[in-house]
Amino acid sequence: MMGTKNSLKPFLQFLTVITFSYFRCGFCSSLNTDTINSTLILRDSDTIHSIGNQFTLGFFSLNGTTTARYMGIWYYVSPSSVTWVANRENPLHDSSGTVTISSSGNLILMNGNREIIWSTNFTTSPSSVIINTTAQLLDSGNLALREISTGNTMWESHRHPQNSFLPTMRVSHNPRTGARVDLNSWRTSQDPSLGNFTSGLYAVGIPQMYIWENGIPMWRSGPWNGRILTGVTGMYSVYVDGFNVANEDDGTVYFTRSFRQRFISRNILNASGVLVEASWDEDLNNWNVTWTAPANDCDYYNRCGAFSVCFINDLPICNCLRGYEPRNRGEWGRGVWSGGCVRRTPLQCERANNATDRNREDGFSRLSLIKVPDFMQWSTGVETECESLCLRNCSCLAYAYDPGIGCMFWNETLIDVQRFSASAGSDFYVRVAYSELVDERNNRVAIIVSVIASLFVASICLFLAWWMCKRKRKNAKSAHGNGENGVSGSSEIVLRSDMDNVNIEELPLYSFEILANATNNFDLGKKLGMGGFGPVFKGKLANGRDIAVKRLSAASGQGFDEFMNEVVVISKLQHRNLVRLLGCCVEKEEKMLIYEYLQNGSLDVFLFDKTQDVLDWRKRFNIIEGIGRGLLYLHRDSRLKIIHRDLKPSNILLDDNWNPKISDFGMARIFGGNQDQANTGKVVGTYGYMAPEYAMGGRFSEKSDVFSYGVLVLEIISGRRNTSFYSDEFSLGLLGYAWKLWNEDNATDLIDKRISDPNFRTEIMRCMHIGLLCVQEVSKDRPTMSTVLSMLSSEIVDLQVPEHPGFTDRWSRTHVGSSSSSNAPSANNITHTVMEGR
Ligand SMILES: *[C@@H]1O[C@H](CO)[C@@H](O)[C@H](O)[C@H]1NC(C)=O
Ligand SMILES: *[C@@H]1O[C@H](CO)[C@@H](O)[C@H](O)[C@H]1NC(C)=O
Ligand SMILES: *[C@@H]1O[C@H](CO)[C@@H](O)[C@H](O)[C@H]1NC(C)=O
Ligand SMILES: *[C@@H]1O[C@H](CO)[C@@H](O)[C@H](O)[C@H]1NC(C)=O
Ligand SMILES: *[C@@H]1O[C@H](CO)[C@@H](O)[C@H](O)[C@H]1NC(C)=O
Ligand SMILES: *[C@@H]1O[C@H](CO)[C@@H](O)[C@H](O)[C@H]1NC(C)=O
Ligand SMILES: *[C@@H]1O[C@H](CO)[C@@H](O)[C@H](O)[C@H]1NC(C)=O
Ligand SMILES: *[C@@H]1O[C@H](CO)[C@@H](O)[C@H](O)[C@H]1NC(C)=O
Ligand SMILES: *[C@@H]1O[C@H](CO)[C@@H](O)[C@H](O)[C@H]1NC(C)=O
Ligand SMILES: *[C@@H]1O[C@H](CO)[C@@H](O)[C@H](O)[C@H]1NC(C)=O
Repeated sequence: MMGTKNSLKPFLQFLTVITFSYFRCGFCSSLNTDTINSTLILRDSDTIHSIGNQFTLGFFSLNGTTTARYMGIWYYVSPSSVTWVANRENPLHDSSGTVTISSSGNLILMNGNREIIWSTNFTTSPSSVIINTTAQLLDSGNLALREISTGNTMWESHRHPQNSFLPTMRVSHNPRTGARVDLNSWRTSQDPSLGNFTSGLYAVGIPQMYIWENGIPMWRSGPWNGRILTGVTGMYSVYVDGFNVANEDDGTVYFTRSFRQRFISRNILNASGVLVEASWDEDLNNWNVTWTAPANDCDYYNRCGAFSVCFINDLPICNCLRGYEPRNRGEWGRGVWSGGCVRRTPLQCERANNATDRNREDGFSRLSLIKVPDFMQWSTGVETECESLCLRNCSCLAYAYDPGIGCMFWNETLIDVQRFSASAGSDFYVRVAYSELVDERNNRVAIIVSVIASLFVASICLFLAWWMCKRKRKNAKSAHGNGENGVSGSSEIVLRSDMDNVNIEELPLYSFEILANATNNFDLGKKLGMGGFGPVFKGKLANGRDIAVKRLSAASGQGFDEFMNEVVVISKLQHRNLVRLLGCCVEKEEKMLIYEYLQNGSLDVFLFDKTQDVLDWRKRFNIIEGIGRGLLYLHRDSRLKIIHRDLKPSNILLDDNWNPKISDFGMARIFGGNQDQANTGKVVGTYGYMAPEYAMGGRFSEKSDVFSYGVLVLEIISGRRNTSFYSDEFSLGLLGYAWKLWNEDNATDLIDKRISDPNFRTEIMRCMHIGLLCVQEVSKDRPTMSTVLSMLSSEIVDLQVPEHPGFTDRWSRTHVGSSSSSNAPSANNITHTVMEGR
């Protein structure tokens, strides 16, 4: 069946082209070239094709008559899909138009009277200088006018976008000069002249995409966080969607789409101001719409007025934020929302210093899956700081946190807040007066009272369960001899030093009460940070031992799988470079893991905070080696084969001697016997540390851990976060930047200033070399962990030359316009998955 279909396809395509050509321009003749030069004159009946037959350039009319002829570019497979029009404001009225290169080197379009009706208009600096150029139609759909002798591009259609946003094209904004390049719509679908809609990037502060109607915002994408536009549903990552924001030295920030897709897809701003993404279905010979914006009522900018939130599944769709009420109830009730909402109870900080209110500080009400409001201010910082920064300043109305951005604050108004039902948005915290929170608490009390009866019944069950547990534990205890000595104070704790044969039932159990006492009732002041599935607290047992308690947030209902996964994985492991699990607590609604406490916290703090100066090169090398040993143990030396899948600096803990210990096994996978590669539908992990084949195809193996390890090594050497945002070299990413320096023989520029002692130069360079070997794009080129350790210890002296690292080509190729096929991802179904996701 496939055979018949395939052999028919070229024939059908041929037919389409022929039929179309006939309607388009009578007897089109395709010139056998992709380039217009000074001796070639393109007539109305001629077309040229890009070398891979992706795009065609020629003359066309839009409504079947010959009354208005345009010169432009369209998809070879879909001639009615025009991507760019030269004379959009100036149609020809007959078929006498010609295109050629003028004596000044410009590409010109002339009518039958040899009058120039359109020209590329580039000027040379002394205008008398005459240069020879050719105009080439590239497979990216870009028409590039280049100087022959130097190859310099004098003009290109991709820098003058119209309604189509093609891969490698850019829309841009320069916050310093205000210069911008936007998409602009056609007037109607039959009339390519300038319409009322534009779409582009606004890059003052955090970059966001907009659609404007006559300059007034109509849709907003939410802030770019270095990975996705946070207010767009179903966006996954730079690597998969291909969208990216980057900047140039002159301050221009641009939004682009890399050339990753193997299938044909297009994004256009259509004549009604809707951004439409569609992919070409070869079998149906038609475009399949995969995503649109705005897609529903709530997507329209500021649909509900200020201080309200729009949720398409609510009825009515608009509601005031907590602590706010409609400005005009009558209007609001009639569905006129433009008036928005106003604050119901003044904030404590707004009232004159009222002594009786001292203990009634304002608080925050949390909303999840939110497209955060427009006009944000931001600062770097970690999640826990955002709240106190906002609380301290009375003009702060709300805050939000995104790991790629930091803290975001709002001080004037909260406009265009939208809630999603899944897979988009951020957590958003609105400041409210204490009394508004009290309401919430009272409600909670009421609920608690109402369930007390059922709790009574439950407690009887619990007692029975506890009694049985206790018996079981006693049995276990006697079976394994005495509990560890030194565990005075509580008979509840059973610690065992030999963790080798532990399984879940045998894992020491801690009571909730003991852990609550140890952590001062989970005092927020004792919070160490957030683990994979919940907060981590520092605690001290009655015997003086420090512990770290990771608590699965009972309320969220999430993370149970990760919790169980972590218990299963880590209870079977023991190695000096893996964090040690001491026990667990599964009681009532509570699920907690108890770890040894590590004095120095996580690696990211010391590595990325430039004011920290403790990690000299010796310590860093020790850390690189230690992590390597821990990984090797996971991959090879333990009886199981384990892939960690989420290796990053915040998951590396440091003990008091600065020895690294790998933690957070919530996402780790155990491989059976001789299996060494697996697929997963759900890609988990952290952006920036994931190997390309995993991020894009969901395939993971020990080589994907090796990739993360390589990123980690480069971060340790550079002291810079791979995902760092708004940095000078952002447009390359750490890997691309390292690769660039390496090839330019400037690799020493990467070295963190804090470890720039020339005595270590050679060793650091060797580590960088190893790091680059680990992040190579093709997974089978990457060394195994045992090879890495041999290289680190110089057992292996001669290192291979590293190949191109993963995820960098899109940066360097942004406007080269070469064919995509050579570097297309090898995972063959991911492209479709992604498209469907949007
Ligand atoms: C212009 O292109 C035509 C067709 O490809 C070719 O025959 C001709 O030699 C070219 N002229 C110059 C000056 O390159
Ligand atoms: C560009 O060319 C047009 C004619 O097509 C002319 O009217 C216009 O002044 C030129 N613009 C510049 C900046 O040279
Ligand atoms: C442009 O081409 C002409 C003839 O092909 C040649 O005489 C002239 O030197 C060229 N000019 C430059 C700047 O290359
Ligand atoms: C075709 O489009 C041109 C330009 O927009 C317009 O002048 C002409 O009337 C249209 N013809 C028909 C039949 O719609
Ligand atoms: C564009 O906007 C102007 C001003 O709002 C309006 O008069 C005009 O009809 C609009 N054009 C189209 C094609 O909708
Ligand atoms: C623009 O796209 C939207 C969504 O696909 C569609 O409903 C609308 O009709 C389109 N407008 C035009 C003028 O094609
Ligand atoms: C396009 O849509 C049709 C019908 O909805 C579907 O059968 C087909 O698989 C889609 N093609 C692509 C390439 O998404
Ligand atoms: C101080 O608070 C009390 C009770 O909340 C209130 O009755 C009083 O009016 C407040 N005083 C001022 C100056 O706001
Ligand atoms: C409070 O925030 C506003 C705007 O965010 C800022 O202008 C002001 O300086 C801040 N005040 C203090 C005391 O930090
Ligand atoms: C909000 O912050 C901006 C920037 O700091 C400042 O210019 C503006 O005046 C502030 N607005 C209010 C109401 O505090």
